[in-house]
Amino acid sequence: MRLSSLFTSKTPVSSAILAIAVFTLSATAQDRTTEQGEAQITDPNQECIGYSYAPMAALAGKFPAVWQPATIVSNDTDAQAKYQSIQSQIPNIQPKGTQPASLGGDFSGFTPTYPSSDPDCWWTYDQCTTPKLAGLPPDLTAVPEPDTLGYGFDDGPNCSHNAFYDYLVEKNQKATMFYIGSNVMNWPLEAQRALADGHEICVHTWSHRYMTSLTNDEVFAEFYYSMSTHVMKAIKMIVGVTPTCWRPPNGDVDDRVRAIAHALGLRTIIWTYDSNDWREGTADITAADIDANYETLITRQQNGTFATEGVIMLTHELNNFTMSEAMKFYDQLKATFKYIVPMGVAANQTQPYVETGYSLPSFDQYINNTTTVSGGASPTAGSAGATGSGTTSSGSATGSSSKGAAQKASFDGLGMLAAGATFVGVALKLLA
Ligand SMILES: *[C@@H]1O[C@H](CO)[C@@H](O)[C@H](O)[C@H]1NC(C)=O
Ligand SMILES: *[C@@H]1O[C@H](CO)[C@@H](O)[C@H](O)[C@H]1NC(C)=O
Ligand SMILES: *[C@@H]1O[C@H](CO)[C@@H](O)[C@H](O)[C@H]1NC(C)=O
Ligand SMILES: *[C@@H]1O[C@H](CO)[C@@H](O)[C@H](O)[C@H]1NC(C)=O
Ligand SMILES: *[C@@H]1O[C@H](CO)[C@@H](O)[C@H](O)[C@H]1NC(C)=O
Ligand SMILES: *[C@@H]1O[C@H](CO)[C@@H](O)[C@H](O)[C@H]1NC(C)=O
Ligand SMILES: *[C@@H]1O[C@H](CO)[C@@H](O)[C@H](O)[C@H]1NC(C)=O
Ligand SMILES: [Zn+2]
Repeated sequence: MRLSSLFTSKTPVSSAILAIAVFTLSATAQDRTTEQGEAQITDPNQECIGYSYAPMAALAGKFPAVWQPATIVSNDTDAQAKYQSIQSQIPNIQPKGTQPASLGGDFSGFTPTYPSSDPDCWWTYDQCTTPKLAGLPPDLTAVPEPDTLGYGFDDGPNCSHNAFYDYLVEKNQKATMFYIGSNVMNWPLEAQRALADGHEICVHTWSHRYMTSLTNDEVFAEFYYSMSTHVMKAIKMIVGVTPTCWRPPNGDVDDRVRAIAHALGLRTIIWTYDSNDWREGTADITAADIDANYETLITRQQNGTFATEGVIMLTHELNNFTMSEAMKFYDQLKATFKYIVPMGVAANQTQPYVETGYSLPSFDQYINNTTTVSGGASPTAGSAGATGSGTTSSGSATGSSSKGAAQKASFDGLGMLAAGATFVGVALKLLA
């Protein structure tokens, strides 16, 4: 189902939950209107209660529904024009599998008929990362510097990430954050914190579906509404910058999806080593298994596996476990690897965004302890890039982000609160 608006209908149940949430919020008197205020909340439960962010009101109706596969908003002529302008760059490759099963990665009916020569350089089929379509750059899978760990986290911003981000500040460690557009919409101040803290922000699509299963316009919209080259898109609008890099959810990319990303100025980043941290608690995967995965990476660094080329490990800002695990192993990684740097730093990509007011250090600067070299734009401005004079509240809710097919839903109580109400969001968990 496609909702024409960000805001979904309201129910008496949600109304009752809102009342509880408003009460909880008013009892704490925290500043939940600025990046700085939000960053100071240390109770994870408090962090994950939705809040009002006034500039979001200006975005109402301009985005696809959160956590649904994105499509171009029907009256969005900018998006339509942009989509038309890249048509000639999109190869004639069909979406893989059949929706809805394929949205969650079920390609079982399709894979047996797919040529084993892998004509589309489909990562999910054989981990192909060197495109077969002319004109596309290879995916970034490793970092060029020896004995270096390219450090990054997928699936954020997580509502309860302050403990983890505080830890990274304490260690003066920057990372590449692959943000999901729907999470950015739901947690705008958390998204702003990444820029304020000097991390690099890349796109991790709008709704975290298997990208090769989507139609061309859906692939376009998954990128466009998350980044973008135009004004009213989530990361640009809320954080103030337009990313130039992305990572496919579940690695699912082929030359058609790469071509659309490339046309929008996004470089595809994969990984060399998978921590599988998101699997903890699924099937029979335990915390000890994930510990072992981290330890194997450390062993490989010690035995010279990365002596000529560094490694990118896949890790997540998904939940308390994945973030705790990153903290648990940070000191060991730091002691074992020569350098731990964001991916853009490893590539000397000192201009990580379309906007020129914000820079990353070069690799040499970073390893000389110049880990932040932001330009004109103040990365601490809570209002960075967000515009609009919202006089009504808007808000959001989120589902727990999980790998693969889990359907997410959006919730917003905008319409049911009188003007002037300051709180409308509530965690989806409460509704489930
Ligand atoms: C599309 O229509 C909605 C609802 O009328 C409106 O809020 C929104 O601003 C419009 N979007 C654009 C891009 O014009
Ligand atoms: C390092 O250890 C891994 C196993 O953890 C092994 O696969 C690899 O061959 C070893 N490399 C070297 C250079 O010894
Ligand atoms: C994990 O949850 C505990 C208990 O709520 C909290 O104290 C801790 O800071 C959390 N860790 C992270 C990394 O979020
Ligand atoms: C980054 O810049 C340094 C210093 O100029 C250079 O040694 C290194 O090869 C560069 N790395 C890349 C990936 O361009
Ligand atoms: C890094 O520090 C060394 C030693 O202080 C200095 O010689 C070098 O010029 C510095 N490089 C950069 C890129 O700042
Ligand atoms: C960077 O800081 C670390 C930790 O304080 C220190 O050990 C190292 O010598 C510094 N490097 C440079 C080039 O100043
Ligand atoms: C963030 O982490 C918390 C704690 O594990 C979890 O409850 C929540 O669902 C996660 N997801 C998002 C999107 O915040
Ligand atoms: Zn992901």
